[in-house]
Amino acid sequence: LTITLGLAACGSGGGIDGGDGDDIDVTSADTVWRLAFNQTEEHPQYLAAVELGEALYEATDGRYGIEVYANELLGTQADVVNNVSEGSVEMMYIGGPVMESFNEDFIVFNLPYMFASQEAQAGVFADTEVTGDLFASIEESKGITVLAALFAGVRNVYNAERPVVEPEDLDGLKLRVQQSDSQVRMIELMGGVASPMGQGEVYTALQSGVLDGAENNETVYNALNHDEVAEYYSYTRHLMIPDYLLMNTDILADMSDEDREAFQALIPDLVESANTGFLEFIDESIAASEEAGAQFNDDVNVEAFRERVTPLVEESINNPVRQDLFDAVQQYNEQFPAGS
Ligand code: GCU
Repeated sequence: LTITLGLAACGSGGGIDGGDGDDIDVTSADTVWRLAFNQTEEHPQYLAAVELGEALYEATDGRYGIEVYANELLGTQADVVNNVSEGSVEMMYIGGPVMESFNEDFIVFNLPYMFASQEAQAGVFADTEVTGDLFASIEESKGITVLAALFAGVRNVYNAERPVVEPEDLDGLKLRVQQSDSQVRMIELMGGVASPMGQGEVYTALQSGVLDGAENNETVYNALNHDEVAEYYSYTRHLMIPDYLLMNTDILADMSDEDREAFQALIPDLVESANTGFLEFIDESIAASEEAGAQFNDDVNVEAFRERVTPLVEESINNPVRQDLFDAVQQYNEQFPAGS
């Protein structure tokens, strides 16, 4: 209880200007949900969640509001997802690989070089015939509803030692990965040494030399100051994995039909706002990292990395559910090939 009260002062809070000049104090809502986030307050997903909270407050005449807790304040994604399952935290953003601990079939969307383009990925996640059963599986088993899947950039490797061109350049480098077995296996196949951990510990581990590097999109690289301590960023383009917006299923079900429909009608705006903002955020992040002295290297043998990780793809597509998901992704890849 003490912790909860202590943290209550740290969320996105009240008095936010909704853009129309009126201050909306979402914390004055009858019910205030907490949304856990592991990135900064500048991140477009944070801003989109704050907008969602304000729009929800207005749409429900103050019956509901959302307070967004940034910077991993409520815990690592791997920890918080259990709280969302129990209902002690109502909502969160989570990286795809962390979902694998609940249903391993989620792995299909987290495999290296899986989506040919952002459009292909968006097509898959807009198609409820593809995702419906997978998402329903964790409603039933874990009490978690997937409200949305978001674009979360393309991930590349970075380290303090050297630009990476070939898999051999990762030899002996200890790289942080997200908390999931598939991510460990991926980095090992790519040629590095994998170290899974939550986002919040990475900077210190890089700074102290416990880690040589990590893999992530440009926004994390800059916003969390990894560019200061790992100056070589190399475009392996090995992952395009979604972030999901999750909610406790019972809490959603407890709303009146009218309020729930009003809430769900606001989700497409969140997706649009977060995804559009993300593209701009990437450009700003690259410029800021270059300013800080980081070196971006696009001279990477991507084909060599792609070949290295093929075993992970092959061993992961090992049941009919995953095969169907995989085939569906390929259809969207054909429709929206790279560079489309
Ligand atoms: C990205 C992603 C997050 C993820 C993070 C990480 O920021 O959007 O969901 O948690 O990377 O590597 O931990």
